[in-house]
Amino acid sequence: MAAALAWPERVDLSGHRLMLDIGGGSGAHAIGAAQQWGKLRVIVFDLAPVCGLADEFISEHGLQDRIRTQVGDMWVDTFPPADLHFYSQIYHDWRPTGADSSHGKASRALSPAAALSSTRCCTTIARPARFLRRP
Ligand SMILES: C[S@@+](CC[C@H](N)C(=O)[O-])C[C@H]1O[C@@H](n2cnc3c(N)ncnc32)[C@H](O)[C@@H]1O
Repeated sequence: MAAALAWPERVDLSGHRLMLDIGGGSGAHAIGAAQQWGKLRVIVFDLAPVCGLADEFISEHGLQDRIRTQVGDMWVDTFPPADLHFYSQIYHDWRPTGADSSHGKASRALSPAAALSSTRCCTTIARPARFLRRP
């Protein structure tokens, strides 16, 4: 949870309204981002059993009004609209072909003003998205 609380203090998300946390797991990063950025809403996109656990964790933090889960398979299903895609500890688990595929999908789903943000092991930047970096 420490990392999930740390990065939102260092990355400016003030220009974003809806973050899609792909493979969002427990929702820890969504919670960290929502706690830091009061106008931000987040969708945690993950497999069904994980979303159930994330819902509980999100409720424990009282953020169910701003964070919701969406069950989906990131390789198959269409991403819901968002102006920020977030990946944490996702790319290192799959071969580059898989990562490239997901990045291409993210690029197609994002608006030109949108951004990609990631922690750990991210090698490509989806255009026309810009990549958020720590200052
Ligand atoms: C290493 S965990 C990272 C969780 C979270 N992003 C974090 O950093 O704490 C990988 C996550 O990807 C999810 N995942 C695996 N395959 C997936 C798929 N096909 N579609 C959506 N999520 C998937 C897993 O359920 C898991 O929550």
